Amino acid sequence: MKRICIIGISGKLGQYMTQHALDRGFDVVGVCRPESVGKLDRFKGRISLYPGRTDDPSVVSQAVKGCDGVLTVLAPWGFTDYASGTARAVLDHAEPGARLIFSCGLHITRDGKDRYSLRQRLVFNVLTFFAWVTRLADISDQVRATDMIFASDSDWTVVRGPELEEGASEGLPLWSSHVGDPVLASDIVRRTDFALFMVHALTDDRLIREAPAIVSRKSASARSHAMAEAVSVHG
Ligand SMILES: NC(=O)c1ccc[n+]([C@@H]2O[C@H](COP(=O)([O-])OP(=O)(O)OC[C@H]3O[C@@H](n4cnc5c(N)ncnc54)[C@H](OP(=O)(O)O)[C@@H]3O)[C@@H](O)[C@H]2O)c1
Repeated sequence: MKRICIIGISGKLGQYMTQHALDRGFDVVGVCRPESVGKLDRFKGRISLYPGRTDDPSVVSQAVKGCDGVLTVLAPWGFTDYASGTARAVLDHAEPGARLIFSCGLHITRDGKDRYSLRQRLVFNVLTFFAWVTRLADISDQVRATDMIFASDSDWTVVRGPELEEGASEGLPLWSSHVGDPVLASDIVRRTDFALFMVHALTDDRLIREAPAIVSRKSASARSHAMAEAVSVHG
């Protein structure tokens, strides 16, 4: 992996991914809205930018040219199919064989086998309703975007993030295939570690065509899981 593209590079997740990708020695190219270019001033001279909407196929096709990996922030802003337009532009224009990593929330389910707590369902429903009433975001657009990705035969990974918090890295998050698996119960990860996992996924072939749900490796549920594993291995 040499050259990667970050679609939605100027947001909080995008900026963390940029730093992790530069730390790994990747050449970084990015797409962000023209009005957000200034947010990336601290990376000046170290990244190349293609200003434009992330669902604009003409911008995305230029940016992903020659990239071995593409990290995409799926954001369902507004009611213009922004997330599904972004996913389509990436799927249609990425280089054949490129690793494609997408971000989303835990409400996305690939096979319907996720088991949500009452609290999670309440939070999703309140957020969906608030986003719809204010016309800020169309949560079902992220569902359409990921359905399109799941149906694709490209080398995709859809990373599903729990509640996010700021703070220093706690290390690479743990993951599991289904919400409701005990390791995920703490339902929290640092935003920088969400980004770390996205960048890690570029080179972890075990994650190809997986939809990992992640959790902080220092969370209570992750630590009890690790302890239970150690007990079962050592008797
Ligand atoms: N926030 C959470 O609690 C949470 C929890 C779980 C998973 N996630 C997932 O994590 C990812 C990143 O989320 P985040 O909360 O950290 O957001 P973020 O990275 O700060 O921003 C998301 C993206 O949306 C763009 N954006 C903001 N307002 C926009 C608008 N009105 N029109 C078009 N684009 C706009 C931003 O670009 P600009 O820089 O141009 O504004 C940025 O590229 C998403 O895939 C989300 O589903 C978030």
